[in-house]
Amino acid sequence: MDLKTKIANNTAVVGVIGLGYVGLPLMRAFNAAGFPVIGFDVDRRKIDALHKGQNYLKHLGGDDYIRQMVASGKFDATVDFGRLGECDAVISCVPTPLGAHLEPDLSYVEQTAIDVAKTLRKGQLVVLESSTYPRTTREVMMPKFEAKGLKCGEDYYLAYSPEREDPGRKDHNTQTIPKLVGGIDPVSGELATALYRKAIKQVIPVSSAEVAEAAKILENTYRAVNIALVNELKVVLQAMGIDVWEVIAAAATKPFGFQAFYPGPGLGGHCIPIDPYYLTWKAREVGHATRFIELAGEVNRSMPRYVVDRTVLALNDRSKAVRGSRILVLGLAYKPDVDDVRESPSFEIIEHLEQLGADVDYHDPHVPATHKMRHHDLQMRSIELTPEALAGYDCVVVATNHAAYDWPMVVKNAKLLVDTRGVTRNLAGDKANVVQA
Ligand SMILES: NC(=O)c1ccc[n+]([C@@H]2O[C@H](COP(=O)([O-])OP(=O)(O)OC[C@H]3O[C@@H](n4cnc5c(N)ncnc54)[C@H](O)[C@@H]3O)[C@@H](O)[C@H]2O)c1
Repeated sequence: MDLKTKIANNTAVVGVIGLGYVGLPLMRAFNAAGFPVIGFDVDRRKIDALHKGQNYLKHLGGDDYIRQMVASGKFDATVDFGRLGECDAVISCVPTPLGAHLEPDLSYVEQTAIDVAKTLRKGQLVVLESSTYPRTTREVMMPKFEAKGLKCGEDYYLAYSPEREDPGRKDHNTQTIPKLVGGIDPVSGELATALYRKAIKQVIPVSSAEVAEAAKILENTYRAVNIALVNELKVVLQAMGIDVWEVIAAAATKPFGFQAFYPGPGLGGHCIPIDPYYLTWKAREVGHATRFIELAGEVNRSMPRYVVDRTVLALNDRSKAVRGSRILVLGLAYKPDVDDVRESPSFEIIEHLEQLGADVDYHDPHVPATHKMRHHDLQMRSIELTPEALAGYDCVVVATNHAAYDWPMVVKNAKLLVDTRGVTRNLAGDKANVVQA
């Protein structure tokens, strides 16, 4: 049976490589659509958890989220990449981080291509979902497959489909976020589109893998640049004594031509602080600079330092040195209501404050303890958040606006509150202890 028929009758075995924030819900979406799925990951703990019916990504739901998949009888997960040959379609969702000098680290994507190439067979479809610069699918993945003497579009098929996952979002999920698909050649594009249409409500084919790759970078650059714009405005308006949050709310009353973006303590997450730099690196190949991306990066990367400076000044106003002060940072995750701490500005804020001699703790309802990351290893545990605990700190810095926080209680008990998220704006009562940052 050919791939087109297997897709049409839901019997194509779908392999998903990299079972993180992107891969796990994707695998489940295909399983829910009736397809047999096999998950692949190098992290044995994830594979073991899945076999036990445990969900390690809490924002997706409880263990039932996994158990339903296991109960379908059409699910398997493994660390054995030799089994990739069992799949009719293989979708790679591995990380694409930055190296120490903001250069793309495509080692995971390359490793995936090597793994897939080992068992690549006629009729297989391979799709890359990881965010990356245009031409990665063609220049990094395809050569590994062609080296086996197989021809793309005839023997096997290759496409790119960017992931647009937004963990924690309530109004959209993997199935409802429209999906772009671009093939290395028309046949690959058509097959990948047909496959995704089985699991995702709206699939938008584009003319090439490169268009799909570049569209994802455009989406993330658009956010990075606009967030930088409001972060810069925040600094200017705060110096003028004007409330940036009220200004944004006022501008957002315009029914067209304006989209509200909000300032914060810096950029976080796996995508927006990272993906645009993939294009910056690639653009040099064609002799161009990506000035908007670099300027936005400069502004956004300066924000944790700005928050620390405002904190130091606020303590100074109260005749306190930052050295020896007890400071509590609220929120370690990079955005509300998730446990994802990748690239979170909270880490930099904590490290800067500690370098200045402060005694720093954190609280995050979703992150009970820190773990070793690429650039940070804080080795801290979340404190218990009580009115008494809050009152024991010289300063409380709001870094993440988790819904679980009781802001009136926080404002009431903190001696000094540095608000980077505008959470205190609409609170009634005395806010003499609040400083915006
Ligand atoms: N998280 C998001 O919301 C999101 C949104 C859009 C795009 N993306 C992009 O999707 C990609 C994956 O992101 P993520 O957030 O799911 O990352 P993640 O870290 O949550 O998951 C990646 C998984 O890949 C596994 N892995 C690493 N190397 C591997 C290998 N060689 N073979 C198999 N598995 C391997 C890791 O163990 C991990 O489980 C990245 O390119 C990211 O930029 C993520």
